[in-house]
Amino acid sequence: MRSRPLTKAVVPAAGLGTRFLPATKASPKEMLPVVDKPAIQYVVEEAVRAGLTDLLFITGRGKRTLEDHFDRMWELESALEAKGDDKRLAMVRESADLADVHYIRQGEPLGLGHAVLCAAAHVGDQPFAVLLGDDLIDERDPLLTPMIEAQAEHGGSVVALMEVPPEQVSLYGCAAVDGTGDVVRVTGLVEKPEPDEAPSNLAVIGRYVLSPSVFEELRHTKPGRGGEIQLTDALQGLIATEPMHGVVFRGRRYDTGDRSDYLKAVVQLAVERPDIGPEFLTWLTTFVGSRT
Ligand code: UTP
Repeated sequence: MRSRPLTKAVVPAAGLGTRFLPATKASPKEMLPVVDKPAIQYVVEEAVRAGLTDLLFITGRGKRTLEDHFDRMWELESALEAKGDDKRLAMVRESADLADVHYIRQGEPLGLGHAVLCAAAHVGDQPFAVLLGDDLIDERDPLLTPMIEAQAEHGGSVVALMEVPPEQVSLYGCAAVDGTGDVVRVTGLVEKPEPDEAPSNLAVIGRYVLSPSVFEELRHTKPGRGGEIQLTDALQGLIATEPMHGVVFRGRRYDTGDRSDYLKAVVQLAVERPDIGPEFLTWLTTFVGSRT
């Protein structure tokens, strides 16, 4: 077992978010609302539930909106207090009290790998988690905790894997693995392979528990697919020297990466909500019925 508990998480939020323009012109896509919370708040809540209380956001443009969201907002709080609206006051305060939050700027969006490298000085020489705001994991289905446990048991790094239909593998990083079951050994990783070159139908999804050696690897990683410094390429490099495992996730994941998936995620999560779900589902059923 590790000597110090794993508490640091890196949340990259400096991508250009081109698939969501113009909404992401001045604000990061991680701030897009999913029902009534920005996507990134679900991710932060998930991190905190897994004991990750030191969060480093890698930001680009739109840093202000992120900082404001995870900070106190005195004017709003006083107005809600004056109205006696305790429920909303608690909601507004909650995001500021969740975790110990830090920010660093990625001068240029050179890729996810480069964004993670920006965290090197903050993270130091301990394993750390990386969470991407594109993937929302249902709070009923644990993923980070088993990943942290797998890292403590095997050392090295751990990626989150999910079976996807073969025609979708080319949208993800894809893993070659040894073994079956919930924790497998990763023997190779390839970023967005052509379907006939994919080593499996196991896609890498947006949760990682990484060895600090990844920073040295990233310093030498050349731009890859799309001209970006890819985290997948650095992880592939690490496999030669350190153990890498995959935790196979079979729970509920909501993809918010592109417009259509984002809309599906919003609908699924809205239907699940006890406050608005029943009324929304009744409306949705009638709406769908009227269209078919
Ligand atoms: P994506 O590959 O989804 O890219 O990034 P993107 O720029 O956010 O979105 P599109 O494809 O242009 O619509 C995956 C994650 O990596 C972060 C993003 O913010 C997202 O969380 N990222 C990406 C960075 O922080 N910096 C980068 O240079 C690239």
